Amino acid sequence: MEDEEFVAVRKVSKMYSNSKLPAVDNIDLSIRQGSFFGLLGPNGAGKTTLLSMICGLLAPTSGSISIGPDSAKNRQSQDNSLLGLIPQELALYPTLTAGENLAFFGAMQGLSGVPLKNRIKTCLEITKLVARVNDKVENFSGGLKRRLNLAIGLLHEPKLLVLDEPTVGIDPQSRNFIFDSLRQLNNEGMTLIYTTHYMEEAEQLCDDIAIIDSGKIIARGTLDELLHDNQCQSILFRTKNPLPSTLIEKISALPFVEKITSANNKTEILIGNNTPDNNFLADILDSIRNAGLDITSLTMGATNLEQLFLQLTGTQLRD
Ligand SMILES: Nc1ncnc2c1ncn2[C@@H]1O[C@H](COP(=O)(O)OP(=O)(O)OP(=O)(O)O)[C@@H](O)[C@H]1O
Ligand SMILES: [Mg+2]
Repeated sequence: MEDEEFVAVRKVSKMYSNSKLPAVDNIDLSIRQGSFFGLLGPNGAGKTTLLSMICGLLAPTSGSISIGPDSAKNRQSQDNSLLGLIPQELALYPTLTAGENLAFFGAMQGLSGVPLKNRIKTCLEITKLVARVNDKVENFSGGLKRRLNLAIGLLHEPKLLVLDEPTVGIDPQSRNFIFDSLRQLNNEGMTLIYTTHYMEEAEQLCDDIAIIDSGKIIARGTLDELLHDNQCQSILFRTKNPLPSTLIEKISALPFVEKITSANNKTEILIGNNTPDNNFLADILDSIRNAGLDITSLTMGATNLEQLFLQLTGTQLRD
């Protein structure tokens, strides 16, 4: 049951009429039932476009998408009652209260009467908004609005919850609260697709991750698999004084150095896949000491998701 496919994306492309390059380029993607799937990528990578097609809001230019436990058998199926979307742009009516927003969106989902009332109550409880039910949304903080957005997405008890950057602009307390709620929903069996620019969120939440860039999936797997497949190491150290640019150039010219960034006395060196056998760490440390710099802290370790992400997608600005 756990390993059954829930979302099947087959050779899907999306070409917007006014652009030369596809926003989504021939993507194949299979998402397991019950997984907490993370979709990562820089601005303009095609995340929202892909999610919109998964949610049936946008038609693919080519390819097919199906959702549900029988997705493998029935490629054309698109049962929207199965899925809930928490959109990137907040979709709330500011002049209505939280309760009125929930009633409105619930009715749009085909709920009414006692079942709607019960679901509103449950979703207010899940998102801890019971005390705010009669408050107008225009007076809500960013965190409260995000929570109400989540409550709306949960009203019709979706089996698949699609979240497009749900933690933008909220404080760590609200973020942790949303994380706990999402983990709980996932533990209860809900499949989640989660998009974020915060790599540590994906590290904390997601058991399956895809990195997308220029409309293509460029890496896919669990966090461990991703980090292991792209074996990279980093050296991070602080010095009392800034590194002179001549030293930065010297280190960056070493054959095994993928990238070096140095600012505010903090330097990070990314070691590429072909780490040499010789004592490269000693070489680097020697060159720093020879420059007369005191190292105040030093850590060395495998790269984290953020480093891997930058390595795969580059440091160039997008959009
Ligand atoms: N309605 C549209 N018409 C034309 N081009 C679009 C439209 N929506 C998105 N695009 C383009 O398609 C590409 C993918 O955009 P998309 O919004 O899917 O990216 P994203 O990964 O969600 O980015 P972000 O992280 O900024 O939300 C971009 O080049 C974008 O400019
Ligand atoms: Mg987006």
